[in-house]
Amino acid sequence: MKNKFIFILIALAAGIIVLNACRHEILNPGNGSGGGGGNGGGNPPPTSNCNPDSAYFVNDIMPLISSNCTMSGCHDNITHADGVNLTTYTKIMQYVRPGDAANSKLYKVIIKTNGDRMPPPPMPPMTTAQKALIQKWINQGAKNNSCIASCDTAVFTYSGAVKPIMDNKCVGCHNPTNLGGNIDVSTYNAVKIIALNGKLYGSIAHQTGYSPMPKNSAKLSDCEIRQVQKWITAGSQNN
Ligand code: HEC
Repeated sequence: MKNKFIFILIALAAGIIVLNACRHEILNPGNGSGGGGGNGGGNPPPTSNCNPDSAYFVNDIMPLISSNCTMSGCHDNITHADGVNLTTYTKIMQYVRPGDAANSKLYKVIIKTNGDRMPPPPMPPMTTAQKALIQKWINQGAKNNSCIASCDTAVFTYSGAVKPIMDNKCVGCHNPTNLGGNIDVSTYNAVKIIALNGKLYGSIAHQTGYSPMPKNSAKLSDCEIRQVQKWITAGSQNN
């Protein structure tokens, strides 16, 4: 009787592990990687299961922290400035009180307005929307959660596709006060330079000869890479 109970427990645990593993697999649905060049037609966009009222660690928070906090010289594995390393969920949770943003160090430092603010001056502060997202995620329990974001390769304008990717996943390491690799992605004109010289696509597609970007975090989804590629092919316009 007792053995049977233990067996059921183990089976349950294994089931949970397998389920979790699958969640990661479906994270980047890779829409449109086939289909080559078909403008708009063809693949329907994947259905998103993201609740617009929720904030997700994998989709929203980790990319923000990677590009604003874990750049080299800051809270990365090598430097861990002030003893703070923000490279994983577990490490980040040392500075988070789930459900209580107001008393979470992670949130308190990003909303400061003096010299103690993070990222530290002269780096630009996070935007109001970005701060609000972190606040929401903490107040919703700071879970290690993710969802399938809808991404449509038929959308490939600068404002609709490229800029949001730059703002959320790149600009913290690539702005006039923090010019990683001497690259700026904070304005259209700056992004256009690396679109034209091949570095933008080369780095996000992890082509040989380029530094893979975003540095130290997950590769962009196939759909996002395709959006950027289509924007470049269509002339890198300010649209
Ligand atoms: C955590 C900081 C960080 C993030 C996030 C980041 N980069 Fe970088 N990037 C760097 C650094 C540092 C370099 C200099 C080369 C190196 O160290 O790999 C660099 C180099 C580059 C280069 C030049 C590559 C080459 O081979 O010449 C491009 C282009 C680039 N980044 C684009 C991006 C884009 C686009 C994103 C977002 C999808 C991004 N980066 C995200 C830090 C970052």
